[in-house]
Amino acid sequence: MKPTIVLNETPSVLNNYLAEIRSVEIQKDSMRFRQNLRRIGWITAQEISKAMAFEQKTVTTPLAEAHVHTVAEDVVIISILRAAIPFGEGLLDVFDKAESGFVGAWREEEIEGEEVRVSLGYTALPDLTGKTLILADPMLATGKSLVKTVNQILKSSTPSKLHLATVISAPEGISYISKNMPMAFQLWTSAIDEKLNEKAYIVPGLGDAGDLAFGQK
Ligand code: URA
Repeated sequence: MKPTIVLNETPSVLNNYLAEIRSVEIQKDSMRFRQNLRRIGWITAQEISKAMAFEQKTVTTPLAEAHVHTVAEDVVIISILRAAIPFGEGLLDVFDKAESGFVGAWREEEIEGEEVRVSLGYTALPDLTGKTLILADPMLATGKSLVKTVNQILKSSTPSKLHLATVISAPEGISYISKNMPMAFQLWTSAIDEKLNEKAYIVPGLGDAGDLAFGQK
């Protein structure tokens, strides 16, 4: 399995949802923006499930016994607040037995000429020992929120697998997490964009995902 899986490289309806979340016209409808992030969450979860272990079981239909396969991993979905809320709900819709957790992360006020600094706040984490962690953050810009969050998570327990689920990623962020992530991971992203701008926003990107999802202009 490649370390980064880019979902829009395969033509699919995902591209319609990506087109809508990027468009300034359609972004005005924050309910549609959230719905599209949620739908991208479903698609991302479905792709991640293809990399999971399955077990065989038998269920009884009205006619006979049927041999079926179900996911054999204990999944925990942690959403980085606040932008990941709709995206994380889409992931949870697919992994209906998953536990979930939350970590608040924000960028410190900018100091001109200095690099972006990220702080963590509210944290609610289940025990991750031996479980499969899907860490959701729709915009992988600098990569600092993801690395800081994983470092925080590892202080209390260690998952057996780490999937990073993003929607749009910048090459700079992918490079940062490749060098600084404290454990092995697989990155699932819907698109890799061109670059970060001077304010560390992804270009072309979509703007501020948290503000757009929660109606702040
Ligand atoms: N967070 C966002 O919401 N957008 C970006 O472009 C970068 C970080």
